[in-house]
Amino acid sequence: MVTVPDISLNNGIAIPQFGFGVFQVEPEKTADVLGTAFEAGYRHIDTAQMYGNEEGVGRAIAASGIPRDELFVTTKLNNDGHGHDNAITALDESLRKLGLDRVDLYLIHWPCPAENRYVETWKGFEKIAADGRARAIGVSNFQIPHLERLAAETGTVPAVNQIELHPHLPQEELRAYHREHGIATEAWSPIAQGGELLADERLVGLAQKYGKSPAQIVLRWHVQLGNIVFPKSVTPARITENIDVYGFELADDDMATIGELDNGRRTGPNPDDFG
Ligand SMILES: NC(=O)c1ccc[n+]([C@@H]2O[C@H](COP(=O)([O-])OP(=O)(O)OC[C@H]3O[C@@H](n4cnc5c(N)ncnc54)[C@H](OP(=O)(O)O)[C@@H]3O)[C@@H](O)[C@H]2O)c1
Repeated sequence: MVTVPDISLNNGIAIPQFGFGVFQVEPEKTADVLGTAFEAGYRHIDTAQMYGNEEGVGRAIAASGIPRDELFVTTKLNNDGHGHDNAITALDESLRKLGLDRVDLYLIHWPCPAENRYVETWKGFEKIAADGRARAIGVSNFQIPHLERLAAETGTVPAVNQIELHPHLPQEELRAYHREHGIATEAWSPIAQGGELLADERLVGLAQKYGKSPAQIVLRWHVQLGNIVFPKSVTPARITENIDVYGFELADDDMATIGELDNGRRTGPNPDDFG
């Protein structure tokens, strides 16, 4: 079983750097898949209202026998739930489904800038944190202007910003902003959904050099950059393989080679236009 190091968030809460994402894991399979993940050493789960599987996550937690304080559970507010009071009642529903009395991290899933309510929503999140119903609060898919508005109009810096980030989209500018402002970077679709990226001959070459899989090379690149990651897989061998990235180190020139895979290509929507 792999032991994952923690990263300290800006309010002192510890988050395991390596977690398990359950986007597109069918609700009825979530408990089984997470059972395999727990055996491999995963203790951090990334879910969302939008994924429709919070109840499956709750069942897996209850069945695992793992003490609650050894698990780190993140969920996210749906795009149709923006607003101060809506954010609070949506969390009630998520907690009921998860079978928990608080989450470790609660995120605004997308800023939905056209709706222009994310500042008001964030004030609801501040109330949730003050009430102890989320140990940390953060955002997802926020661009620098969205983060700047939160800084100008509210009193709490998000603990994390969860963004699409992989070698095709390394997000240098946002990562630099995060570093400067004490926001931890969470990388979603960390292996770019497992497609074309993993077949790149430069990654395949590095995989051969280190005796690892292309996915492990990419995940190790994230770990060395200090990103928090939670790849998704429903395949037991991959679930075990993905987290096994703490026993080797990529040389600086190999880190640089992976950095050159940047082609600006997103697998998901542009946050400026979405929602
Ligand atoms: N905040 C947001 O807006 C947002 C958006 C997207 C995702 N996320 C979060 O990020 C998590 C991960 O992102 P993701 O699921 O989009 O993409 P991902 O983790 O980059 O890739 C998942 C895909 O890669 C395959 N895969 C997994 N391990 C592999 C390996 N070792 N070798 C080859 N293929 C492998 C999986 O297939 P199998 O399952 O068939 O093994 C699956 O099709 C999500 O589960 C979710 O928690 C957040």
